[in-house]
Amino acid sequence: MSDPTTSDTKAYVFDAYGTLFDVHSAAGRLSSEIGPEASRLSQIWRDKQLQYTWIRALTGRHRDFEAVTSDALDFAAAVVGGIAPELKSKLMSAYMKLDAYEEVKGVLSELRSRGAKLAILSNGSPVMLEAGVNSSGIGDLLDANLSVEEVGVFKPAPAVYQLAVDSLGIAAQGISFQSSNRWDIAGAKAFGFRTNWINRFDQPDEFPDMPADRVLSSLLPLLEG
Ligand code: LAC
Repeated sequence: MSDPTTSDTKAYVFDAYGTLFDVHSAAGRLSSEIGPEASRLSQIWRDKQLQYTWIRALTGRHRDFEAVTSDALDFAAAVVGGIAPELKSKLMSAYMKLDAYEEVKGVLSELRSRGAKLAILSNGSPVMLEAGVNSSGIGDLLDANLSVEEVGVFKPAPAVYQLAVDSLGIAAQGISFQSSNRWDIAGAKAFGFRTNWINRFDQPDEFPDMPADRVLSSLLPLLEG
């Protein structure tokens, strides 16, 4: 039986943060300056960043992802303590140039050589996404680098997923969506995409009524079809 996520897949659309880019690489790079709380700071930063996106989407009080990321860092720094303003600036700069996971460039390159269209669909602002793809050297592999700023609301609002359909000119059933964020997979599944949950850290499953079509431990199995 052919895999439901690969037969008739015309485009692969990727979440950015956590899926292509390692969100913890910013604090990781600056861990000696942050001290022993570096990984706790990074986790609170990420958790709050996402929580803020959902609150802003539900209240209709949008701010771009850079502002939300900065607000979340302020909170995380206040919890952990001892984070100087200059260190916050360095963390925000590092967030603009996060490390890509090691398989990302090779997998995107191979999928593209097989004729698939490739796109990012992310909460990130255009400036952040541009900086991220440039620093990881994947810009030339993408047909589109789509930011929620075009619709002014964060995931998992259906208008965000519709942006990929409209920009690529491909129906939802022809799009395979990849995210490491299980809630993003739920949103994409509810919208109608084929979905691959990239469960990099062996997290327990959630949202049983909005299941992923496949659960993969990295992007590499996308090449197996
Ligand atoms: C993104 C967030 C969800 O890239 O990680 O959209």
